[in-house]
Amino acid sequence: MDVGLRHYGPLPAPVIDAINRPIAEATGLPNEAYTSPEFARYERDHLLAKTWVCAGFSTDVGTTGDALPIEIMGQPLLIVRNPVSEIKVFHNVCRHRGQRLLREPCHLKGSIRCPYHSWTYSLDGELRGTPHIGGSGVHEVEGFDKSKTGLVAVRSEVWQGIIFVNLSGDAAPFPDHIDLLRQRWKPFWGTTEGANLVPDTEHGCWELTVQSNWKLAVENYCESYHLPWVHPGLNSYSRLEDHYHIVEHGHFAGQGSVVYNPDYGDRAPMPHFDAWPEDKLCHAEYAAMFPNVLLGLQRDHLFAIALIPINHEQTVERIQISYLGDAAHDETHRDTRRAIRVTWQEVFGEDVWAVEGLQQGRHSPGFDGGTFSPAMDGPTLCFHQWVANRLSA
Ligand code: FES
Ligand SMILES: [Fe+2]
Repeated sequence: MDVGLRHYGPLPAPVIDAINRPIAEATGLPNEAYTSPEFARYERDHLLAKTWVCAGFSTDVGTTGDALPIEIMGQPLLIVRNPVSEIKVFHNVCRHRGQRLLREPCHLKGSIRCPYHSWTYSLDGELRGTPHIGGSGVHEVEGFDKSKTGLVAVRSEVWQGIIFVNLSGDAAPFPDHIDLLRQRWKPFWGTTEGANLVPDTEHGCWELTVQSNWKLAVENYCESYHLPWVHPGLNSYSRLEDHYHIVEHGHFAGQGSVVYNPDYGDRAPMPHFDAWPEDKLCHAEYAAMFPNVLLGLQRDHLFAIALIPINHEQTVERIQISYLGDAAHDETHRDTRRAIRVTWQEVFGEDVWAVEGLQQGRHSPGFDGGTFSPAMDGPTLCFHQWVANRLSA
C-alpha cells in the first residue's frame, strides 16, 4: 500500500532517453542514483526487490540449524537451513510486535526464538510457542490461529552455491533469469554446469567493505578499460587487447580474457572442467549478472562476488571461489588454492580505491552521468540501461 511516504519516483523520461541513446551520445545515471538515500530506497523496492538478488552463499548455512541474518539496504532477512537441509529465507522479524529475530549468525537448536517475548518458530517458519499469550501461565488463546502467524517467507533459489531471493515474489521464474548465462557458458562447463563445483571454505572465502554504492562495483567489473592503471600486475600478462566485451541486454555484461594461463610453478594444477574446449583453454569470462553478483569462470575454477548493498554508499563484497570435485580440496592442492586466492585478493583489493573514488566523484556537481567510450564502455552502458529501464515509469 502506498501511504504517501515515498520521496522518490521513477526516473524522469529525459534521463532514460539519454541513457538509451547510441553509446557515443549517451550519458549515464545521474549522481543521485548513487548518493541519495531516497533513490536507494526506491531502487530497493522497485528494482532489487523485483528481480533475483544475490543474498549470500549456501555455505553460510552449511548444516541444519545454521542461521544467517543479513540486511539488504536496511531490510532484515534471515537465511536458515531447515531440518531436511533446504535453505529457507524469511523476513527477519517477529509476527508479534515486530522485533528483529536474529542479530548474529548462529546455530539454532530446532527453533527460532524471538528475544522479546520468546515466541518461537520452527526452522520452516511455523509459529510454535507463544508463552503467556493468554496471561501468566496460559500459553494458548482461543481464536488465535498460529498457522496464520508464521514467519513471512521470501522466495529463494540456490544456484552454484549462490542464494538468490526475490522479495516481491513475482519475478520471472529463476530458470528464466539465468537461462542466457547458462546457454553462454554451456560450451565451457558442459551440460552439468559444474555440478561438481565445491566452494573452498578454507582459502576461497573472504569479504571486503567498500564505501560505495553497489552499482559502481558492478560498473567497475563490467570493464577491462581500467586494467593498465588499476591492475598493473594483472595487466602485465592479461593486457587490454586480450579482452573482449560481453553484453547481453537485460541480463548480464562484462568482459572476457583470451590469455588466462596461470603459472602454478611447482604447485599441483587444479582439475579442469571436462567439457572445456581445447582451443579455448585460455578463455575466461567475467560477467556481472544483474543486479548484484559478479561471476568469473575459468577452466579450473569459478568465483562469485556477492555485492550486498548495505546502504546507498556502502557495499559488502563477499567472495567465494569454487573448484572442481573433492580432489581439488585435498592437501595436494592446498598451496595452489592458496595461491589463487592471493592473486584474486590482490586484484579485487586494487579495485577498492577505484570504486570508492567513483562514489566520491558522484558527489560533485561537476559530473552529470558522464560519457562512455564507444570502444571500451559498452558493457557498462548495458548495465546503466538495465537499471534505467527498470526504473522508468
Ligand atoms: S515481538 Fe517477538 S515475541 Fe513479542
Ligand atoms: Fe578491476
